[in-house]
Amino acid sequence: MLTTRFTELVGCTVPIQQAPIGGCATPRLAAAVAEAGGLGMVAVTGDPPEIVAAQLDQARRQTVGPIGANLFVSVADPAIVREGVAAAAERARVVDFFYADPDPTLVAIAHAGGALACWQVGSAEEARAAVGAGCDFVIAQGFGAGGHVRGRVGLLALLDAVLAAVDVPVLAAGGVGSGRAMAAALAAGADGVRVGTRFVAAEEAEAHPAYVAALIAAGPEDTAYGDTFALDHPGLPHRALRSSVEAVTAFQGEVVGERFRPPYGDRVPVHRFEKMVPTRHASGAIEAMPLWAGESVGGVTRVQPAAEIVHELANDAERLLRRWTSA
Ligand SMILES: Cc1cc2nc3c(=O)[nH]c(=O)nc-3n(C[C@H](O)[C@H](O)[C@H](O)COP(=O)(O)O)c2cc1C
Repeated sequence: MLTTRFTELVGCTVPIQQAPIGGCATPRLAAAVAEAGGLGMVAVTGDPPEIVAAQLDQARRQTVGPIGANLFVSVADPAIVREGVAAAAERARVVDFFYADPDPTLVAIAHAGGALACWQVGSAEEARAAVGAGCDFVIAQGFGAGGHVRGRVGLLALLDAVLAAVDVPVLAAGGVGSGRAMAAALAAGADGVRVGTRFVAAEEAEAHPAYVAALIAAGPEDTAYGDTFALDHPGLPHRALRSSVEAVTAFQGEVVGERFRPPYGDRVPVHRFEKMVPTRHASGAIEAMPLWAGESVGGVTRVQPAAEIVHELANDAERLLRRWTSA
């Protein structure tokens, strides 16, 4: 049993937070992770409060385990973000923030609604700012992470600096796709790990099958860091499969496809260089949409139930850690 300050704070039995993997992080995935003992996350960025509430209520109907709601702060309208935090905090154990300077007002709204607040950070300075803003825990995101990347250095160097800077529980994110990597992060002092790319290939995730197949075929050297998929929000660096960067660069035309948005019930175009991850509700040139992937992608070898991913990571990590503690 890997009990840490994080598991005790949040009420998990396993020190794993499923990362909010954009539109692939459905209530069904979050509930499956929570049922397996981890912290399941729903991505609610930019959603109006009634959609935030509906998504979280849907997750809550499927589990009594801990559920969190994520807001990618810098890409959404500030008023919608504030309303979303308030709606989320009444229903989620954790409200999770990313990609903006830590904001005490948002943290206070989360606390007022009864939730814990956390911030994914890319530096020790940002971790201090998150704690100063009132966050209950932080996530240190290293340079190898999939999706948008805040970190500028490798995970272990960042973890070292963040652990020295703050006293709250710290999770490690970015490149954790195996029990070995999880054990390394815990041995270095992390209170848990945040895992994204592995969960894209969970049975309960909404990822497009072509995206999942590309992840299974890829290794850590097949990801690229850059700012290609920045049509709507320029200047936010990210990590994706290099093949998707090459495909969108070569693509002729303004619209690469279309996607259905389940919570809204509508279909919208997917523009070239847009940051929307292809779910199974997308059609068109999937290969030219952002196939977000961390250097952890080598851990994606097949489609698995989310619970199996949680247990595999935790059991492998625990076995490795015991090897040393019992020596
Ligand atoms: C497909 C995908 C979508 C992501 N979407 C979000 C998001 O909506 N909000 C967020 O805070 N982080 C998002 N991230 C980044 C994660 O929070 C996390 O830092 C990352 O997945 C960790 O690296 P890993 O993918 O190697 O596990 C996303 C990552 C991936 C792979």
